[in-house]
Amino acid sequence: MLPETAVSAFHPFTNYDFSNFYFGSGDDVYDTIHTYNQWFEAAYTGGYHIYREPLTTAPGAIISIHSNQGKRLDGLLNFSSYNYLGMANAPVVKEAAIRAINQYGLGASGGPNLSGMFDIHRELEAAVAAFKKKEACTTFNSGYAANLGIISGIMRSGDTIFLDQYSHASIIDGAILSKAKTIFFRHNNAADLDRKLAGVTGRKLVIVEGVYSMDGDFCKLPEIVDVSKKHGARIMIDEAHSAFVCGENGRGVAEHFGLEDAVDFHMGTFSKALGGIGGYACGDRGFIQYLEAYARSRFFSCTLPPAVSAGVLAALNHIEANPEIRLHLWRNVAYLQKLLQEAGIDTGQSNSQVMPVMVYDDAKVFGIAQNLRDQGIFLQPVTYPAVSKGKARFRLSVSAAHTIDQLEYAAQTIAGVLKEAGIPCK
Ligand SMILES: Cc1ncc(COP(=O)(O)O)c(C=O)c1O
Repeated sequence: MLPETAVSAFHPFTNYDFSNFYFGSGDDVYDTIHTYNQWFEAAYTGGYHIYREPLTTAPGAIISIHSNQGKRLDGLLNFSSYNYLGMANAPVVKEAAIRAINQYGLGASGGPNLSGMFDIHRELEAAVAAFKKKEACTTFNSGYAANLGIISGIMRSGDTIFLDQYSHASIIDGAILSKAKTIFFRHNNAADLDRKLAGVTGRKLVIVEGVYSMDGDFCKLPEIVDVSKKHGARIMIDEAHSAFVCGENGRGVAEHFGLEDAVDFHMGTFSKALGGIGGYACGDRGFIQYLEAYARSRFFSCTLPPAVSAGVLAALNHIEANPEIRLHLWRNVAYLQKLLQEAGIDTGQSNSQVMPVMVYDDAKVFGIAQNLRDQGIFLQPVTYPAVSKGKARFRLSVSAAHTIDQLEYAAQTIAGVLKEAGIPCK
């Protein structure tokens, strides 16, 4: 435990972050746990912690929350949920899930290789494979579990995995679990990947994301594919933020670039554009069959709830039958991007529905978040460890469910609050 004087030194919040409490100096595990909690309490009561506030409504365009100050806040304009196509609360999706609850009950009560596989799972897998134009698909109970299971399922100690420096935590954790050697290349930099692949022998896997989750930029897939093929490396793409959204038919960034067959292993999640939860892997039948035996995060974990599978399947059918929803999202993206640019706001390299609003200053971002909240906008700050230190930002998730008025209000309010905080707008 730290003395009182040391606890007050935890202010301001930004003098410390999660990296300070990863290792502790004492001999007891609780030495680190207690020290972290002293910091956390100081940050929380000091107003520097505005996360984990419970929503009391669906994650639609307008939400209600219980604030950390104990107040119920209604009518907030939500730009923080990944409900890109509005499917999380679409009536057709809710009705399918309710029907499935009545048929199957709540959970699967077993893993997929034993008693936890239901007909609705097989239907969902077949529908995703057909949509993605792949031979086969298998599902996981989250996107995180999918990355863990796919990467550690196919890579072994002695192999080499090449990761973009901005890779999502689930990709990094999958690589760690596989025990393969991991080499990072500079973000979206095929020339750096080329240098790093050169001379590496044995089994090689390059993993990229379709749309990067913190910056909203597209993967430079054509160059990455060229370089990977030149060195005989296999390629995996995580389309968590791009499947069902990008590409002429919504099949993702690989479709956008016409490179679906050049990529060996396709991964995605149901928790974003389809508004549910769960992850999937798609590819040839042999790959999927192998995964179903060797992806331990799937094998040894309870299957996706049948009712969620039914809801996700309904969402997939709905967006396939109504491509205008996706087109509407892209119109919203273009309009908000234009408004933010006109206001001189720095949105980094984004060219998607994931739109960073760069603040950079780790200390200021919390106060700005609070001001936005006071003006009716639910937009959460993103700081280390989700992004590097000094790269604090807000990350707007644009949805097809947002109206023009809501986009205009958001752009105007964000610009005003940033200016007031002295964040330079270009
Ligand atoms: C790129 C990427 N991959 C995987 C995941 C994990 O997906 P899920 O939240 O559905 O588990 C995320 C989640 O945000 C992500 O951004």
